Amino acid sequence: MMDEEDNSWDETEKKAKRKSLELRKEIMIRNATKDDLEKILEIERASFNRTDAFSPTLFKKYLRELKEGFFVVLDEPNSIVGYAILGEENDKGYLLSIAIHPKKRNHGFATSLLKFLEFKCYEKGLTKMTLEVRVNNKKAIAMYKNLGFVEVGKKKGFYADGVDALVMEKRLPI
Ligand SMILES: CC(C)(COP(=O)(O)OP(=O)(O)OC[C@H]1O[C@@H](n2cnc3c(N)ncnc32)[C@H](O)[C@@H]1OP(=O)(O)O)[C@@H](O)C(=O)NCCC(=O)NCCS
Repeated sequence: MMDEEDNSWDETEKKAKRKSLELRKEIMIRNATKDDLEKILEIERASFNRTDAFSPTLFKKYLRELKEGFFVVLDEPNSIVGYAILGEENDKGYLLSIAIHPKKRNHGFATSLLKFLEFKCYEKGLTKMTLEVRVNNKKAIAMYKNLGFVEVGKKKGFYADGVDALVMEKRLPI
C-alpha cells in the first residue's frame, strides 16, 4: 500500500516536471525579423514614453544592420512577448533596449533575454556588457543588479526630459 502511494506520488511529480518542461519548450528566443516589427512597436509604445521610444526607422535599421543574435525576440507560440537589442562597442556589448509587454512582466522573461545576450557577448569574445538606465527605473535597476551588473557612473540629463542615466556594467567570463 505504501509503495503504491509512493509510486503514485512519484508519477504526479514526474508529470509536473514534464509539464513545466513542455511549457518552457513553447517559449523561444530567436532573431527578430521584419514581420515582428508591428508587435515590437506595440510593446515599445506600451513600455516607454514618447521621447524614449525607438522609432520604426531605428528598429528597421537595427534589423538590417545588427549581427545574428543581437536583436532578439522572446516568442510564445505565435505571439512576441518582448524584445532586446544589443550593440557592440570595442570590447563591450552595449544594451540598446529591452522591453516586455506589460501583461507579460514578472515572469523572468527579461532576465532570460539578458542571459541570452550575455551568452552572445561571451561567444563573440566581448569582455563586458554595459547599459544605461533611468535613475528612477527601480524595477529595471533591481533586475540588472540581480544579474550581476554594478553601477559604474552617471550621465547627467541623459534623457530628453532631463532625467539622469545610471551607467551599469557587468564583467563577463572570457
Ligand atoms: C524592466 C523590464 C524589461 C523587466 O521585465 P520583466 O520580464 O518583468 O523582468 P523579470 O520578470 O525578468 O524580473 C526581473 C527582476 O525585476 C525585479 N522586479 C520585478 N518586479 C519588481 C517590482 N515590482 N519592483 C521592483 N523590482 C521588481 C526583480 O529583481 C526581478 O527579479 P526576481 O523576480 O527574480 O526577484 C520590464 O518591466 C519593462 O519592459 N519595462 C519597461 C521598459 C524598460 O524599463 N526597459 C528597461 C530600460 S533600461
